[in-house]
Amino acid sequence: MDALEAILSRRSCRNFTGEPLRDGDLERLLEAMRWAPSAGNCQPWKFYVVMNPEANRALVRAALEQEFIAEAPVVFVVCADPDRSGSRYGERGRSLYCLQDTAAAVENLLIAATAMGYGSCWVGAFDEEAVRRVLRLPEGLRPVAIVPVGPGGKETRRTGRRPLEEVVDKDIKSEENTWLDFG
Ligand SMILES: Cc1cc2nc3c(=O)[nH]c(=O)nc-3n(C[C@H](O)[C@H](O)[C@H](O)COP(=O)(O)O)c2cc1C
Repeated sequence: MDALEAILSRRSCRNFTGEPLRDGDLERLLEAMRWAPSAGNCQPWKFYVVMNPEANRALVRAALEQEFIAEAPVVFVVCADPDRSGSRYGERGRSLYCLQDTAAAVENLLIAATAMGYGSCWVGAFDEEAVRRVLRLPEGLRPVAIVPVGPGGKETRRTGRRPLEEVVDKDIKSEENTWLDFG
């Protein structure tokens, strides 16, 4: 599967068979995250890999009882390190870059998981303090996303997208800008 195919076929998976990842796939997923771009290559992130059923249950509680999290064989908790970006870029690093960088790592994870045939879901609705307690996160880290990954269960319904003409603004000053013709 090429990158575009993976991007276009990915969808949020909220049911998992419970089967494990194939050998070596956990490491491949972590590599996909690690090679995400980051501002100034600061890599202001920490990736927690949760495979313990008890910890997964605690994450479910922290994430407003989203039960499917605990069905996955592996749950990633992607954390940002605002100080790491802040020490280089000040307030912009702390409040913006570290979140953009971790979001890029999360998207890499989702796309890689899809390419490898796994289901995944970006879970952002959770109580940060509760997640912090479950993982005993150091003071400086901010949990940004919980991502359960594993073989998916029943087919997930495809969501729609706003039409291109609604989300793309053409440069109206350039007559030669014919790259996208909305008809
Ligand atoms: C920042 C963010 C937070 C999200 N939080 C949740 C969540 O807490 N629970 C959930 O089931 N899906 C969550 N999602 C997944 C979205 O609901 C999903 O991506 C969107 O509906 C589009 O569907 P698709 O991923 O199948 O294309 C989140 C996605 C993002 C990017």
